Amino acid sequence: MAGDAKREVVGESVNVTKKSYGLEHGLTNYGDRDFSLYLRRSFAQSMGYSRALLAKPVVGIAYTPSGFNNCHRHFPDLLEAVRRGVLAAGALPIAFPTISLGEVFLSPTSLKYRNLMSIDTEEMIRAQPMDAVVLMGGCDKTVPAQLMGAVSAGRPAVMLVAGPMMTGRHRGERLGACTDCRRFWARYRAGEVGEQEISEVEGQLAVTAGTCAVMGTASTMACIAEALGLVLPGTAAIPAVHADRLRAAEATGTAAAALIGSERTPDRIVSAKSVENALRALLALGGSTNAIIHLTAIAGRAGVKVSLEQLNALSESTPVLVNLKPVGNGYMEDFFAAGGMGALLRELKPLLHLDCLTVTGETLGERLASGNRAYVDRSIIAERDKPFEPQGGLIALFGNLAPRGAILKRSAADAKLFEHVGRAVVFSSLADLAARIDDPQLDVTPEDVLVLQHAGPHASECMPEAGYLPIPKKLAQRGIKDMIRVSDARMSGTAFGTIVLHVTPDAASGGPLGLVRNGDRIRLSVKDRRIDLLVDEAELKARAAANKPVPMQAERGYAKLYAQEILGADEGCDFAFLRPRAAAQ
Ligand code: FES
Repeated sequence: MAGDAKREVVGESVNVTKKSYGLEHGLTNYGDRDFSLYLRRSFAQSMGYSRALLAKPVVGIAYTPSGFNNCHRHFPDLLEAVRRGVLAAGALPIAFPTISLGEVFLSPTSLKYRNLMSIDTEEMIRAQPMDAVVLMGGCDKTVPAQLMGAVSAGRPAVMLVAGPMMTGRHRGERLGACTDCRRFWARYRAGEVGEQEISEVEGQLAVTAGTCAVMGTASTMACIAEALGLVLPGTAAIPAVHADRLRAAEATGTAAAALIGSERTPDRIVSAKSVENALRALLALGGSTNAIIHLTAIAGRAGVKVSLEQLNALSESTPVLVNLKPVGNGYMEDFFAAGGMGALLRELKPLLHLDCLTVTGETLGERLASGNRAYVDRSIIAERDKPFEPQGGLIALFGNLAPRGAILKRSAADAKLFEHVGRAVVFSSLADLAARIDDPQLDVTPEDVLVLQHAGPHASECMPEAGYLPIPKKLAQRGIKDMIRVSDARMSGTAFGTIVLHVTPDAASGGPLGLVRNGDRIRLSVKDRRIDLLVDEAELKARAAANKPVPMQAERGYAKLYAQEILGADEGCDFAFLRPRAAAQ
């Protein structure tokens, strides 16, 4: 019987000296501790475990397959590999389900449910008896949700990501979700591709299990998790269906067992320095704009503030070193073959904080000193002094249209539009956009600035990836491929264009974006890092006085919680009450 006696090592590799471990954790309180453990073990035995196995420390596995999540289709195979890694290290693996978020199956948008998944993950880690946890995630919001939850739970944790899809083929051309989805759809809208071909392409965009095949949000978050030190070295980019992915799963299980009894918890690994390393990696990857929101939220759970001014400062001195779509040419399978995150981090080494702790117990510097790969494909991962772009792929903009900031992915934008004044063509909502964008009567020219309002985190649409406004059909058919687009929405990490996103405060919370009217002039200056509405101050004041923002309202359930608690993009769209007290003030 357990009592509160100290336990020594159980199994060969685990190191348990804590008072309570394994099934002893968090016993239900009936007023008789030994009875509680007796009862728990007897129910656990109904699952066919031996008493010897039930006496071992436990590695929980946050397991997220779902019929609505194609990206996690291979998780049963990965789970088996994780389990054998845990068992081989002398601990007991126990998988438990949490919410899964399949990006394209959620309405109104997966972002709305990221915080719900983080709550689920945090509470189930905390409530159930486990000494360490493997987080199995991959699709866009799942990785940040799990990391947010794990940071808040404060128990030893290691992430295993799904890995990217392989590419498909169409008439001799490689295709990968979802940059090529957008490229072909734009051509279809422009009349360059017919019904037959667009239907053929549909079947070749997502051809295996795994996450989107380009440097979209899922891949960016996987790489960021590795830069933070929360996934095993060299595992972020392994393709989902590669045998190395299974070996990574096994090694992750073993690593989780090795974490038992250690103080290497995510809330200690996520620090101001490791977050700065992650921002450097994000910029060098030319990664997804969404990652700024997610990293801000993850860091916020550890009490670390990510400021957009900091992003701009780092962007000045961090070159783009990775040549993947949507910014460049390659796919994630190429990044893996080129050397992956190890090769990238070694290039960035002089810019990184090398004393950061990683989940293996090594510092980042120790990790990068070992495992040097002889071969790096320089067409995919450039040397630091021969970058693809001299400065980072993402910048923050400020100005009277975005007092608390906005984001532009300059590496995916048309430099000809970087210094531009244009007439605003305003869509007041997503419904308005859908109703009018292809109207042949729409008064729009390629020099105009398309503005979408009420698509931010406080709107009822919950900040969808609608910032990639389609080029109005009548312009698309003239061959126009890019225009300046401004919104409080997000953009898929797989999209591209001169697109100003995350304008904060958003229109639904009373931000100046809601004051823009058709015909106003808007100035974008990438050089000055500004986005401004060229309307005089008195007129703006009058408009603000008459403005009646309509934030999301909800009567009940999670939607009500969301409406009450959602924070702005500059605070990671987290819920106020989920952040540590000091950060929330
Ligand atoms: Fe899951 Fe793109 S749909 S990562």
